[in-house]
Amino acid sequence: MTATSEQTPSPGEATGQPLVVLERVNKHFGDLHVLQDIDLSIASGEVVVILGPSGSGKSTLCRTINRLEGIDSGRILLDGQALPAEGRALARLRSDVGMVFQSFNLFAHKTVLENVTLGPIKVRKQAAKVAQDSAMALLERVGVANQAGKYPAQLSGGQQQRVAIARALAMQPKVMLFDEPTSALDPEMINEVLDVMSTLAKDGMTMVVVTHEMGFARRAADRVVFMDGGRIIEQAPPEKFFTDAQTDRAKDFLSKILTH
Ligand SMILES: Nc1ncnc2c1ncn2[C@@H]1O[C@H](COP(=O)(O)OP(=O)(O)OP(=O)(O)O)[C@@H](O)[C@H]1O
Ligand SMILES: [Mg+2]
Repeated sequence: MTATSEQTPSPGEATGQPLVVLERVNKHFGDLHVLQDIDLSIASGEVVVILGPSGSGKSTLCRTINRLEGIDSGRILLDGQALPAEGRALARLRSDVGMVFQSFNLFAHKTVLENVTLGPIKVRKQAAKVAQDSAMALLERVGVANQAGKYPAQLSGGQQQRVAIARALAMQPKVMLFDEPTSALDPEMINEVLDVMSTLAKDGMTMVVVTHEMGFARRAADRVVFMDGGRIIEQAPPEKFFTDAQTDRAKDFLSKILTH
């Protein structure tokens, strides 16, 4: 959803540009053409859910957006700027992209609070006290402020994943990427993470979400992008995609996933 007018418009909105743009992006892994002529433009405040069968290129697409994976041709723009291939400029742009993975990736030997303050102190050069105050506010927001002094292993999977979200948010990213953030969670913990994500979406965060949670896709997505074989096959608002998919591949995918 687009941010409400009381909120400060993000730079993407202020300039009228889309926040993330992929133009004819191609990528190979050896002989495998894993991303094929991907064109995708994501508006500021938009929530895009990426669906598709295993191996269709969803994770790779996410990873190219912050250059965890390089691309062979095409362009990726973040807030109007081309993503540089390497160096300091890349580090700066990359820190504008928050990423949450299936595995929680927290630093095991740091406390929850330290996990969240590390980036702001090291990369954003925030003073420790400032970073701690905003980290506590974020931990409050995701419902784990009372766990701040614990180590990741002392938390449930759902709590760890909410810390991972808080850690990404602490860098004040312009866009958040989620790659199957609930797939490794026990069923009873899935909703607590999806609820945090839904709130973020309502608050106007620009989000790209790979998920198998169709309920979340229906509720929170502005747009569903369906991939197969490294291509975007179809895209539509969720109500349209789930009731009136146009391509056989999307219909086939939905018939398999919705019968579970
Ligand atoms: N580092 C890599 N080297 C070689 N091939 C890779 C690499 N990463 C991914 N692939 C291949 O690229 C294709 C797309 O992988 P990707 O992980 O993007 O798919 P996905 O849609 O996220 O699948 P899943 O739903 O299983 O997570 C797959 O065939 C995969 O085996
Ligand atoms: Mg994947």
